[in-house]
Amino acid sequence: MALPFKRVTINDIRDMKQNGEKIAVLTAYDYSIAKIIDNCNIPIILVGDSLGMVVLGYETTLPVTMDIMIHHSKAVVRGTEHSLIVGDMPFMTYQVSVEDAVRNAGRFIQEAGVQAVKLEGGVNVAERVKRIVDCGIPVMGHIGMTPQSVNQLGGHLVQGKKLEVAQKLLDDAKAVEQAGACSIVLEGIPARLAALITQNVSIPTIGIGAGAGCDGQVQVINDILGLSDFTPKHAKQYTKLNEIIKQAVTAYHTEIIAGQFPTKENSYIIDSSVLEQVKAKIPLNLPL
Ligand code: KIV
Repeated sequence: MALPFKRVTINDIRDMKQNGEKIAVLTAYDYSIAKIIDNCNIPIILVGDSLGMVVLGYETTLPVTMDIMIHHSKAVVRGTEHSLIVGDMPFMTYQVSVEDAVRNAGRFIQEAGVQAVKLEGGVNVAERVKRIVDCGIPVMGHIGMTPQSVNQLGGHLVQGKKLEVAQKLLDDAKAVEQAGACSIVLEGIPARLAALITQNVSIPTIGIGAGAGCDGQVQVINDILGLSDFTPKHAKQYTKLNEIIKQAVTAYHTEIIAGQFPTKENSYIIDSSVLEQVKAKIPLNLPL
């Protein structure tokens, strides 16, 4: 798809599913990476609460707050022109009440300037999805291995291998679709079940650890760039930025120690006559 010189909309994403075009989604958390992703014509950028883990070093996404998400989302919006930006609603910003959910989704739109929000859950959050959509805010659903429920799930574990949970995931996807979501993330779900869900909903499914049968894929940018502490099974390292950065930092360190940096090329000049006048004003008893 040739992307027009405007932001991708939820209608474009819906059309991509209908036309059988795969949808690539990446996370971003800051201005410079978002700018690169945007220039690569990636249609959707998710400011994921995974930033709690890959940017802030927490063990889970649970400590992430609305203020943190808005701070990072603003930077991503400033770095982009084309991609549709989705803000990820953090833990406890939509679970307690519908009012909280609507208010916090609104903050994402008004304060951060994103075009859509994402929240985790299925049947249990359908009412919230509907109320947010009723306010004119596009919502991306997220079912399966939902990291904000890590303690309830007993870990970051694949969901839906057993009949009861597999059936529940299908019901969750349907509930989110019926509530008006524009797309839905399927995370940590067996590939054939994710493909079945994809065939049974009209909205685009975006998989992560859910096989090739989804309408699109999302990956955490740090994982594909080789910046994360470890690479999950569902991810692929397309480069090893940690090695590249290590080499650059070591080269810098070595040059500083050897006095090889900065050189004349990295320095600014001052006219000799100005310098002489400055020197002449230095009191004699001061060491030079
Ligand atoms: O927070 C995140 O980055 C996500 C994606 C992995 C779907 O929710």
